[in-house]
Amino acid sequence: MKILLLIMFAAVVCANDALRDLQQGNIKFTSSLYQQIIKDSPGNVIVSPLSVQLILALTQLGAKGDTALELTKGLHLPDTPEKVKEAFKILIPKLQGNQFYKLNSANKIYIKENYSINKEFQNLAQDVFDAGLENIDFVDTVSASETINKWVQGKTNDKIKKLITPDMLNAMTRLILVNALYFNANWSSPFDTYGTSKRTFFKSEKDEIKVDTMHLTETLKYAENKDLDLKFLEIPYEGDDVSFTVVLPNQKEGLSALEGRLNEVLMPQNYSYERVNLFLPKFKIESTFKLIPALKELGIKKAFDGDQADLSGLLSHGEPLVISDVIQKAFINVTETGTEAAAATAAILAVPYSSITYDRVILVDANRPFFFFITHKASKEILLVGRFSAGQK
Ligand SMILES: *[C@@H]1O[C@H](CO)[C@@H](O)[C@H](O)[C@H]1NC(C)=O
Ligand SMILES: *[C@@H]1O[C@H](CO)[C@@H](O)[C@H](O)[C@H]1NC(C)=O
Ligand SMILES: *[C@@H]1O[C@H](CO)[C@@H](O)[C@H](O)[C@H]1NC(C)=O
Ligand SMILES: *[C@@H]1O[C@H](CO)[C@@H](O)[C@H](O)[C@H]1NC(C)=O
Repeated sequence: MKILLLIMFAAVVCANDALRDLQQGNIKFTSSLYQQIIKDSPGNVIVSPLSVQLILALTQLGAKGDTALELTKGLHLPDTPEKVKEAFKILIPKLQGNQFYKLNSANKIYIKENYSINKEFQNLAQDVFDAGLENIDFVDTVSASETINKWVQGKTNDKIKKLITPDMLNAMTRLILVNALYFNANWSSPFDTYGTSKRTFFKSEKDEIKVDTMHLTETLKYAENKDLDLKFLEIPYEGDDVSFTVVLPNQKEGLSALEGRLNEVLMPQNYSYERVNLFLPKFKIESTFKLIPALKELGIKKAFDGDQADLSGLLSHGEPLVISDVIQKAFINVTETGTEAAAATAAILAVPYSSITYDRVILVDANRPFFFFITHKASKEILLVGRFSAGQK
């Protein structure tokens, strides 16, 4: 009896270790992917590194040798395959809402008609990632992309459309792995619709525009970080499980300095409850990213190189494969009542062509470009990150 208890205890400790590694890896991957993405994306951005991590971690289960190693390192996954499986097995069921808010993450694998995936990979995909499987005729590129896009639309309340375009598919396409993430929640304390007005937003020191700005006076978790020269404000959603954090530079042009130290920005801050007078733009952002160049910068190279990729554990007959595309579309709509957000990421695999005191009120006036992120307490994962700069996107 004693021995049994000890073994169970060891298993729990070990599983928690794996999950903790994954959560820390999520912060590292979030900041490094975001930093790559903004190099080519001036203006507003919304991205879900978590969705990329999920779908490439699933792909990684069928990768071997250095291809697998690069994926593990680049995605900041736990360092052994056992820990990766353990961590996702615990994480996936946690990525769910409750009666107060909606949160869903779904994974799906589309397989070329008359092809089958490796049994071991299939078991892991279903058991660990809860992935659905479907055979599909990729040669009929229009109908195949419609089938996949319809699934994504269904999983994201129609917020993500046309993730796959027919030109991404051809006779060489073998597998498409897709993750769809959806979030919808009301604020714990909604902004008053009548409080919204056009206010000045400083795109830079000299460039001012008017944007629809919401207003709220409330007691919220607030932190100042003198070293980073930033203010942090956590705005909770109903259910108290998910929150939207505004990270506001003290300097009007402080966003790029913030973005250069993202790892520190995403670390826990010294929050205290304060009475806050908040001005926050009402905004909507849609982004589309082709992610291979950014992922290569993070050290994931072999998986995208037809001569070097070893993804032989995915298909049952071990045909050589390469990742030919990684696409993400993401959406966010921040309004007086709450937030709706969604992201979908697809990895396309093909045969390679070559082979508490309230005696003060703090003003948080987000009237300059700022950074934000949405975190989920139950899974301790960052769901989405973005920037609002009143830009074009
Ligand atoms: C492929 O599978 C379909 C059914 O999914 C079947 O009708 C067809 O004959 C198969 N083709 C080949 C070449 O095996
Ligand atoms: C937000 O509140 C509205 C009105 O009370 C309700 O109809 C809606 O279902 C809520 N949204 C979510 C995601 O719970
Ligand atoms: C939080 O407060 C502690 C103790 O006052 C301090 O050592 C630490 O540097 C602070 N952390 C941040 C992020 O400001
Ligand atoms: C954003 O949310 C508001 C309020 O729920 C809604 O009226 C509007 O249609 C939404 N916009 C989009 C593009 O979903």
